[in-house]
Amino acid sequence: MTKLKTSIRKIVIFGPQGSGKGTQAEFLSKELGIPWISTGNIYRQNIEEQTELGKLASQYSFKGKLVPDKITNQLVAKRLKEKDAQEGFVLDGYPRNEIQAEALDKMAKIDAVFEIAISDKESIRRISGRRVCACGMTYHIDFNPPQQQGICDQCGKKLFQRKDDQEEITRQRLAIYHQNTEILLKRYWKQKILIRINGEQSIPAVKEEIFQKINKSDFIKE
Ligand code: AP5
Repeated sequence: MTKLKTSIRKIVIFGPQGSGKGTQAEFLSKELGIPWISTGNIYRQNIEEQTELGKLASQYSFKGKLVPDKITNQLVAKRLKEKDAQEGFVLDGYPRNEIQAEALDKMAKIDAVFEIAISDKESIRRISGRRVCACGMTYHIDFNPPQQQGICDQCGKKLFQRKDDQEEITRQRLAIYHQNTEILLKRYWKQKILIRINGEQSIPAVKEEIFQKINKSDFIKE
C-alpha cells in the first residue's frame, strides 16, 4: 500500500452519488492529518440535532435538492476559517455548481481536485446498499460491511439508511449532478489541478490509485 508523500493539502473530492467521495475523503483526511469537511454530513448532523439550519436543510435534502447556495457558501466559509482547516482540508460535496465554485475561489486556493468517475448504474447499486452512522461513518452491506451487522465499528451506534437514498431521490440527485456539477470539471481541468480516478474498482484499489496519483501530482494535461 502506497504511503502519501505530498505537499498537497487543499483538496476537493468530486463525483456522482455513491462514487465513494466520503469513503475516500476519510482515508485522505486520516493519512494527511487534515479535516474531512462534508457539507452533506454537516447538514445531516444539523437535521439530527433539529437546529434551525437542519430544519431548513431537510426541506431540500430529503427531496434530493440542493440547499440554497447562499446558505451553503456561508457554511463552508465559516468552516474553512476554523483553526483545524488552516493547514489543509478534504472538501467533500462542495462545490456543486458555478456559484459555489466562484465562492470557493475567494475562500481558498485549491491544490487538487479528484474526480471519482462511476456510471449511474453503479451509483444506484451502491446507494441502495449504503448504511450510515450519525457519527459520519459509512458502510455498505456487501462491499464494506461493519464488523457487527448494523452497528458502527467506530462508535457502536445503530446504523441506518439515509432518507435521500431511496432510488427515486437518488435519480433526482444524479440528474442535478449531471446538469450543474459535472460542468465544474472543465474549470479545474483548465486550472491544471484535476486528477481523474476510476471509481469502478474495489475500495482499496480506488484508494491506491488516489494515493499514487497524488504523490505524482498526476494532473490531467491534455
Ligand atoms: P451528500 O451527503 O454530499 O451526498 P452526495 O453527493 O449525494 O454523495 P453521497 O454521500 O451519496 O455519495 P459518496 O460519493 O460520498 O459515496 P460514499 O462514500 O458514501 O449530500 C446530501 C445532500 O446534502 C444533498 O442532496 C443536498 O441536499 C445537501 N448538500 C450537500 N452538499 C451541498 C452543497 N454543496 N450545496 C447544496 N446542498 C448540499 O459511498 C457510497 C456507498 O458505496 C457506501 O455504502 C460505500 O461503502 C460504498 N462504496 C464506496 N466506494 C466503493 C467502491 N469502490 N466499491 C464498492 N462500494 C463502494
